[in-house]
Amino acid sequence: MKLYKELVRNYGSPLYVYNLNKITTAHEMLKNCLPENSKIFYSLKANPNPGVVHHIIKLGCYAEISSIRELDIVLAAGLPVHKCLYTGPGKSDEEIKHAMEKGVSHFSVESLDELGVISNLSLCKKSKVRITLRINPSSQSSNASINMTGIPSQFGFEEDQLDSKELMKFKNNFIVIEGIHIYNGSNFDSSEKLFNNFKSAIHTIKRVSRRLEIDLKFIDLGGGFSAPYGKNETLINYKDIKTSLQEIIDNEFSNAIQIAFETGRYLTATSGVIIGTVQSLKKSKERNFCIIDFGINNLGGMSGLRRLPSSNFNIIPIDKANEEKIEASLVGPLCTPLDYIDKKAIIPRFSRGDNFFIPNVGAYGLTASLLGFLSRDFPKEIIIENNDVRQAFDYKLISLNNSKNYLATELI
Ligand SMILES: Cc1ncc(COP(=O)(O)O)c(C=O)c1O
Repeated sequence: MKLYKELVRNYGSPLYVYNLNKITTAHEMLKNCLPENSKIFYSLKANPNPGVVHHIIKLGCYAEISSIRELDIVLAAGLPVHKCLYTGPGKSDEEIKHAMEKGVSHFSVESLDELGVISNLSLCKKSKVRITLRINPSSQSSNASINMTGIPSQFGFEEDQLDSKELMKFKNNFIVIEGIHIYNGSNFDSSEKLFNNFKSAIHTIKRVSRRLEIDLKFIDLGGGFSAPYGKNETLINYKDIKTSLQEIIDNEFSNAIQIAFETGRYLTATSGVIIGTVQSLKKSKERNFCIIDFGINNLGGMSGLRRLPSSNFNIIPIDKANEEKIEASLVGPLCTPLDYIDKKAIIPRFSRGDNFFIPNVGAYGLTASLLGFLSRDFPKEIIIENNDVRQAFDYKLISLNNSKNYLATELI
């Protein structure tokens, strides 16, 4: 608490703080539930902060990236480019070209249109490219909180429409189709659900590789590792899936095949808190409102993704920790009634200037928010390790040729 108070004093409010020690612990837990020699791909979409990414890379992770800026971040953080897997359902020609110019040689491909562009570019540039096909399995097998496959979806090739003759048209001396990628969904909240998800992905990969006669060198079983969001909870320990998963992989695949898993939230969610400051506590028609200095512009809960925060966030007071609690709607400073963090928060009887924090928002926090809305400053991001500040980042909204862009400045 003392540290948080000091950070707000030095860097202002609202403020994101990421603790690298928590990332190290999460990475250890993740490694301990996966088969030996698995590669963990960090999905930058969960948290692209350069300090966070640098730490995750130092822990030995590969990267799953879906934009040129994510590519720039991982390269600047020191990841060798062959450890990048470029994914995403709508890669533009320029994006693919730029990525290849930067040395990316492994793409998860989601359509024949994309395969055509990559094939032509690899031939023109005489660059070797590894192709991993993302597949939408023919039936839904998972019960994730967000299902992405087995349903009508923009992701991947339809399993039963994929045809080896079609694929052959794109063959040349520079591309090898050598991988299959399945990402069934996110947030499997038990070992059993997660294991069933991987088992189903393995079966799909076997069916597809056999039918299309793919000489597999790489399989990406996706992820779906769950993590708390805004609540004072701990990460699920999935260690009891390790032996069964190892067994099934050993039975089904040669050990020359690289096995990959992807996650963003499992590695970063528990590392981050957002610290805020109370602006006002008032009553409207018998309801208490606590107005704070950030809203869905800073903690959107993926509001742009139509996943608005609902309630049950833990609001942990830095000041007035021991006071009697009241129920209040915790709302942000934006000019819309949709700007609420928690409609029924349990909080102390705060006064203007009091500080508090919300735990476990290190994944899909800042960059999954409506950052441009109302043109407010972005919160700074502070990286701590062993209770010491390691880095501080400040993002500024700038106007560039009439479009909004942002500029990151490292403060220290
Ligand atoms: C293809 C793919 N990989 C990885 C992820 C990261 O998921 P999470 O942060 O839930 O681990 C996502 C999230 O949507 C995804 O779509």
